[in-house]
Amino acid sequence: MQQKATNITWHDGEVTKTHREGLLKQQGVILWFTGLSGSGKSTITVALEQALYQHGHASYRLDGDNIRHGLNKDLGFSPEDRTENIRRIGEVAKLMMDAGLVVMTSFISPYRADRDLARSLVAPGEFLEIYVKCSLEKCEERDPKGLYKKARAGEIPEFTGISAPYEEPEEPELVLDTATLSVDEAVQTILEYLKQHNYIH
Ligand code: ADX
Repeated sequence: MQQKATNITWHDGEVTKTHREGLLKQQGVILWFTGLSGSGKSTITVALEQALYQHGHASYRLDGDNIRHGLNKDLGFSPEDRTENIRRIGEVAKLMMDAGLVVMTSFISPYRADRDLARSLVAPGEFLEIYVKCSLEKCEERDPKGLYKKARAGEIPEFTGISAPYEEPEEPELVLDTATLSVDEAVQTILEYLKQHNYIH
């Protein structure tokens, strides 16, 4: 997005991300969950948030349906609006990560270019793409919000997987196949990854 304001100057503070991370005894990181509606993104992040809290880690969860009630209430599901949705979340996640938090984002984020843009906002290693993999058939079978049924009936235009695209990640840091993994196994897989790569101890 083009810079609109002129005469603005970046001003660094004295307390850095590293200082804040020292206080929190963890490394700030963005866990970017992507996948179809009903694939399990929200369920996994809710459980992961609980596990991180129990282990004494400061985290925060940004969730598609929730953020669309507030910050992004002006956005719909056209390709342009989805791009702006993800751009804003990328920026918010960056701020929270800079505060030293383990940030979880659960948005369909169907476009590869939008996810790549969110990744490009932060340094290498600060953004982990987690593909919550689940076939359309399975998501449709689950249909937790009854939206696939509505979409099939033509009541929801531009519905991801039905009448709007989902572009699978090409090189995600993690793939969680929710057709075979339980929620607990998915959470353990992520925790192991974070420990192995020294994000948490
Ligand atoms: S994204 O594509 O812009 O990343 P986001 O994750 O914020 O989507 O919102 C997706 C959620 O909005 C879905 O889980 C579903 O509950 C709801 N939703 C409503 N309409 C649509 C639609 N046309 N396509 C996909 N999800 C929709």
